[in-house]
Amino acid sequence: VAPLKVGIVGLGNVGTGVARILTDHPHRIAERAGRPIVLKRAVVRNLNKPRDIRLESGVLTNDIQAVINDPEITVAMELMGGIHPAREVILALLKAGKDVVTANKALLCEHGNEIFQAAREYGRTVCFEAAVAGGIPIIAAVGQSMAANQIIAIQAILNGTSNYILTEMQANHQHYHTALKQAQDLGYAESDPTLDVNGLDAAQKLGILCQLAFGTRVTTSQFEIQGIDSLDLSDLKCASDLGYHIKLLAQARLTNRELEMSVRPTLIRKDTPLSQISGPFNAVLLEGDMVGKMWYSGRGAGQAPTASACAADLIDLAVGRAQLTFERLDLWRERPEYPVMPAH
Ligand code: NDP
Ligand code: HSE
Repeated sequence: VAPLKVGIVGLGNVGTGVARILTDHPHRIAERAGRPIVLKRAVVRNLNKPRDIRLESGVLTNDIQAVINDPEITVAMELMGGIHPAREVILALLKAGKDVVTANKALLCEHGNEIFQAAREYGRTVCFEAAVAGGIPIIAAVGQSMAANQIIAIQAILNGTSNYILTEMQANHQHYHTALKQAQDLGYAESDPTLDVNGLDAAQKLGILCQLAFGTRVTTSQFEIQGIDSLDLSDLKCASDLGYHIKLLAQARLTNRELEMSVRPTLIRKDTPLSQISGPFNAVLLEGDMVGKMWYSGRGAGQAPTASACAADLIDLAVGRAQLTFERLDLWRERPEYPVMPAH
């Protein structure tokens, strides 16, 4: 069977992880995708930067047109991050007839409607499992597995960097800036880590989950967002003395046909499972009217877990599963189901 040829735009932390999966496990991937998946091009900004991966000659380029204009590349992965030029790149890729995989929650939260509309217009598919909660298959859970439910509530730890910092401060009495530097070195943080620590990254992810769960397009200006950047060791010590851990909690609840949302540092009793989520792990508690409460946890940031979710999207595209789901999900259509209210 003819291989699926892929172009990766952005060979940083996540892109390198995806390239590694494709080059280290070609047989496993081919078996599960029904055909080989081959990395044809990888686009970067700086060709002279040392790379943590060996690629065949001719794969690495700094010319985005090498992906956009190559008819053999039918799937492109946007793993560069940020809003511009990522937005324009995705729109150009869709227009050129490519399906797109992205991990870019900032972009989807802000421009998801435009991107999904363009995908529909050009008959293409956009996959984004890695955009929320890294390696946890939460997009599939909310978008597909809970399809028979009305989701009532989401309670989640959605930022690995913040959770890593809080864990290091709580368990190892590290200072905030030392722990943040470690999270950056370990590849958990955004290229601008302000978004991690000021709560915006978690809020963007909550916005995407709410779009899926409640059919409501939410912008991050519609609800309260507070990060962990103003906490210090004494706050955590004080909480601990009272029997609590502090976690950056993202919450959405449907009450009287209104959506209450917030992201803020929250006291969590030490004897509850949520308080035990440590390091770069994320956790998502979903409540559906049929299934009741369900709990997901796992690595929410970092190279291999995030690449694992991206590679699963590639396999879903190769076997045609992603296209079916995308067509039926009807994502980001104008459909203001529930007004957003600040949480109490
Ligand atoms: P990095 O900063 O490590 O990598 C970004 C890559 O994009 C680099 O290779 C960079 O090139 C390339 N790039 C940036 N701008 C351009 C441009 N204008 N033209 C061509 N190439 C460009 O980011 P990450 O891998 O950490 O993150 C990628 C995406 O994944 C982001 O959207 C992020 O939010 C998301 N994500 C990240 C997770 C993580 O744990 N890190 C987890 C889940 C999602 P060069 O190498 O030459 O600088
Ligand atoms: N910077 C993000 C985090 C990456 O720390 O959670 C995963 O989306």
